[in-house]
Amino acid sequence: MTYETLIVETVGRVGLIRLNRPKALNALNSRLAEELRQAFAQFDQDDDIGCVVITGTDRAFAAGADIKEMAPKSFIDTFKANYMANWDSPARSRKPSIAAVAGFALGGGCELAMQCDLIIAADNAKFGQPEITLGIVPGLGGTQRLTRALGKAKAMDLVLTGRMMDAVEAERCGLVSRVVPLDKLMDEAMKAAETIASMWLPAVMTAKELVQRAHELPLAEGLRFERRAFHAMFGTEGQREGMAAFLEKRPPRFDEL
Ligand code: HXC
Repeated sequence: MTYETLIVETVGRVGLIRLNRPKALNALNSRLAEELRQAFAQFDQDDDIGCVVITGTDRAFAAGADIKEMAPKSFIDTFKANYMANWDSPARSRKPSIAAVAGFALGGGCELAMQCDLIIAADNAKFGQPEITLGIVPGLGGTQRLTRALGKAKAMDLVLTGRMMDAVEAERCGLVSRVVPLDKLMDEAMKAAETIASMWLPAVMTAKELVQRAHELPLAEGLRFERRAFHAMFGTEGQREGMAAFLEKRPPRFDEL
């Protein structure tokens, strides 16, 4: 696959995707969304990949969906094409992903980051849902994932005013997992990804699914689902190896399973 809008590489057991439309501040267009879908599908199928990192440039993770592409569209165009319905690759992927965010993560850019399982932000990151300033509303989870992640008070503030929040505020309100100096962003994100990728992949995939379900299920159903998944772990070689390693006071050899 030749990518035009992404740079895709593999670093050990980590799949690394760099959004690569720097002149347009990595604005997300249909081509980029399709390439993201293919990159994630490639990593999902690859047993040697345990975690994916998505990043942009120091200036922008992504400044939103491409306004030049969207501007001429009519309701019927977007409705018939089910526009953006498949722009959900990180959420759909069964493997965990980390958004390493520097600079602007606005509109669809913020929504793309929120689809990832962790957001690690540089201290220059700016998050926001400015769609309201364009006469539209968010369309890729900005009213739903943001509200579940931050609660109504912050979500209403961001979605109705379109203002940006900085990395400190984003960490304080629970949108991002960690804030680090810009020059440490990729080291920190890759280190976190390598740690995740060193765990037993089926347990990692199950853990991701369980936490995702916490957003979707009532508590009693979620707890039941979690307990079943927990029981299932005892039928796996990951549990045998992980617990044997602890008892034998040695590191687990998940890579040999
Ligand atoms: C297309 C964009 C763009 C976008 C920036 N650019 N954002 N092009 N779509 N979303 C382009 C600019 O047109 C410009 O190209 C170049 O990137 C640099 O941007 P500037 O505006 O010159 O930079 P700056 O003055 O530093 O301002 C940065 C900015 C501003 C604050 C991020 O660009 C901005 O407000 N962008 C739009 C943000 C936004 O509204 N995002 C939400 C989009 S709607 P040229 O060629 O003109 O020099 C959305 C809907 C999501 O995301 C629905 C689900 C996906």
